[in-house]
Amino acid sequence: MLEECMAGLNLKRGGVYFDGTLGGAGHSYEILKRAPESTLYATDLDDYGIARAKEKLGEFEGRFTILHDNFKNFPAYAEREGIRPDGVLLDLGMSSFQIDDKSRGFSYLAGDKPLDMRMDKRVSFTARNVVNEYSAKDLARIFREYGEEKFAEKIAKNIVAARAGKSIETCGELARIVENSIPAKFRYEGGHPAKRAFQAVRIEVNGELSGLYEAVIALARLLKSGGRIAVITFHSLEDRAVKNAFRELETDCVCDKSLPVCVCGKKKEINVVTRHPITAGEEELKLNSRSKSAKLRIAQKI
Ligand SMILES: C[S@@+](CC[C@H](N)C(=O)[O-])C[C@H]1O[C@@H](n2cnc3c(N)ncnc32)[C@H](O)[C@@H]1O
Repeated sequence: MLEECMAGLNLKRGGVYFDGTLGGAGHSYEILKRAPESTLYATDLDDYGIARAKEKLGEFEGRFTILHDNFKNFPAYAEREGIRPDGVLLDLGMSSFQIDDKSRGFSYLAGDKPLDMRMDKRVSFTARNVVNEYSAKDLARIFREYGEEKFAEKIAKNIVAARAGKSIETCGELARIVENSIPAKFRYEGGHPAKRAFQAVRIEVNGELSGLYEAVIALARLLKSGGRIAVITFHSLEDRAVKNAFRELETDCVCDKSLPVCVCGKKKEINVVTRHPITAGEEELKLNSRSKSAKLRIAQKI
C-alpha cells in the first residue's frame, strides 16, 4: 500500500512529516526521497529497528530526527518544539524484522526461545507475565478480543492447567498448548493454529490498542491546515479506533437542531478522504500475505 499511502499524504517540497511507526524505514525513506528538502520526524519503540533505520536513511542525514519513543507521546513533544507537520503516517503492528528474529519471542515458530514479544526492551513486562500471571478470564478476553479466537476459553483453561505444574517459558510451549486446545477439524483453518493467540498476547504486551483513538485525534490536530494523516491498520479493533477518531473530528456542531445558535462549540476539524478504507490490491496480496488484513484510512485537516 506504499503508493496509496504516499499519494494520500500529498507530499510536497519542503514539507514536514511525522512517521510514528518507523520500522524498517520503508515509508520514511520514500517520504524523504519523494519530497525534496522535506524534514522528517519519526518514532519507534524498537531500538534495534531504529539502528537499522538510521543506516537506511543515511543519505538524508540532517533532514530527519528519530525518537526512541511511543508515537502517542509525539503530540506533547511537537507542542514543546513548535512542530506542525504537513503529513502524519502510522503503519501499525509489527515489523518483519521483529517476527523474523526468533530471539524476540514474537513467533509461534520460535521453539525454545523465551516468551518475550516486547517492542520496547526498556519495559520489563513481557509475554511471559501475561501467560503465567493473567487469570483464565483475562486470558480468554484477550484471545477473544485481540485474537478473534473462537476457542479462547478452552485455550485459557489449558494455559492455567499447564502452568499449575511449572511456568510456561517458551514460544514452543505456548504454541503447543494452543494447538492442542483447538479441535482437530478446526486446527488449520486460517493459518497456523497459534497465530491468533500469539497476536493477542503481543497486542496486550505492547498495549497496542490502548490510547490509539486519543493518539489519532491528537496527531490529526497537530497538522497544518490542509495537512494529511494516513493510518494503516491490521486489526479490526485498530481500524475501528481510527474510524471513530476520524468520525469524531469530522463531526460539526452537535447541538439540538431546535436551538437557534450553537452552544456546544464543536467544530468540524477534518475531511475524511477515504470514505471506505483502502485495502491491498491483487499484486500486493500475492507478494505479502500479511497485507490481507491491511486497511488504509486518510483524512485532511481543515
Ligand atoms: C508495520 S511496522 C512499520 C513499517 C514501516 N512503515 C516501514 O516502512 O518499514 C510497525 C512498527 O511500529 C512500531 N510501533 C508499534 N507501535 C508503536 C508505538 N505505539 N509507538 C512507536 N512505534 C510503534 C513497531 O516497533 C514496528 O517497528
